[in-house]
Amino acid sequence: MLSLPEYEKQIAESRDKRMAWWREARFGMFVHYGLYSQLGRNEWVMACENIPPKEYEKLADTFAPKEGCCREWAALAKKAGCKYMVLTSRHHEGFSLWDSKANPYNSVNYGPHRDIVKEFCEACREYGLKFGFYTSCMDWHHPDAFAAAYDTDARKRFTDYIKALNEELLTQYGDIDILWYDVPSPMESWEGWDSLARNQYLRSIQPHIIINDRSRLPEDFGTPEERIDAEDRDWEACMTFNGVSWGYLDSKQTVPYSYSAQQIAKMLQTCCERGGNLLLNVGPMPDGSIPEEAIEPMTKMGEWLEINGEAVYGKLKKLHGNQYQCNGVSRSSCKGNTVYMWNRIWNPVNGEMGIGGFFTEPKKVSFMDGTEIEFEKIGDRMILKNLPAENPDKILGIPLIKFEFDCEPEYRFASYFPQLNGGLSREIK
Ligand code: GLC
Repeated sequence: MLSLPEYEKQIAESRDKRMAWWREARFGMFVHYGLYSQLGRNEWVMACENIPPKEYEKLADTFAPKEGCCREWAALAKKAGCKYMVLTSRHHEGFSLWDSKANPYNSVNYGPHRDIVKEFCEACREYGLKFGFYTSCMDWHHPDAFAAAYDTDARKRFTDYIKALNEELLTQYGDIDILWYDVPSPMESWEGWDSLARNQYLRSIQPHIIINDRSRLPEDFGTPEERIDAEDRDWEACMTFNGVSWGYLDSKQTVPYSYSAQQIAKMLQTCCERGGNLLLNVGPMPDGSIPEEAIEPMTKMGEWLEINGEAVYGKLKKLHGNQYQCNGVSRSSCKGNTVYMWNRIWNPVNGEMGIGGFFTEPKKVSFMDGTEIEFEKIGDRMILKNLPAENPDKILGIPLIKFEFDCEPEYRFASYFPQLNGGLSREIK
């Protein structure tokens, strides 16, 4: 077994190759589905309401995912422009959604008597999506899960159990792209979880796999949760659809909290600008159906990405500070020497719109359909001309304007007021 420094050196050397697809994918769909979905009171319902295991276990018998629910999830993910999916294979409640020998408390022995993980893998492959498994370290059903914190034998039994679960997931279903650990409690160190040995072993089974930072080791990417915070490494912001719950909630009452397509686009733009991914969650209903409030925004997001995807997918440049902020109601993403201006609102005055900060003249300014936009450059200011009064984007009302340069553009935010752009080191010539 490699030491931690040797292991981290080894996975760092393979990371660019393993993560090339992930870094260009940008947008994934998280799916939180389990026994808790039947109660509709958050995926932590068992712990929040102190439901005794024996009472909670009854949910295993009434768990009834409809036929084809995984295909429904994958179809929406595809339609939404997501490039990958992550499914809760087993959440903190300890119920496995697959044919597990290590964990008899599973969806083949109870409820639907089906291997939901298998159906999920088949659906993702059918729709050409990369995919992986959320796998909770914490477990509210296993007898050793909390004694592991202070009893050496219990800890050994429990960490062996966690290894066995993930070994099944990575050996029974073909190529798996992502392993998404969660809540490494109660042990507070990678040593306590045996994560170094386990993750080396799991990587030996699936050498191309990408592992997140929630097994008490940094691994491949950071996971800011319910916030879009850039990290100085690969990172993926995981977001509920409503800021309230990962697991299903009554749709009628959740709509006021749920994201619109514009809010999803705004989150996605921040990820594009700051060099990260967005993993947006849906919490399927008790029968596995996608909640009504998620369908329309995700569908519209996909339609918008059909037209504007070049500003989202692929190798984007990580921007800093207010870099390439064209005006007060837009933000940007950047690919090579092309800057994409995401107009959050559209209000040209007499057909004109001012753009600040660029010292380099673009060779072309256009809409995403190639329609050129006339512009006048006056020092570090540009005036776009003859713009349509009506918002050109009929899907979300977020039209992109593409600025193509022959080189990396010279740019300083609010350049008239040098004290405002300390974020950029470039000196004005
Ligand atoms: C938190 C929650 C868990 C959820 C996870 C998703 O860890 O405890 O319920 O699955 O976030 O990132």
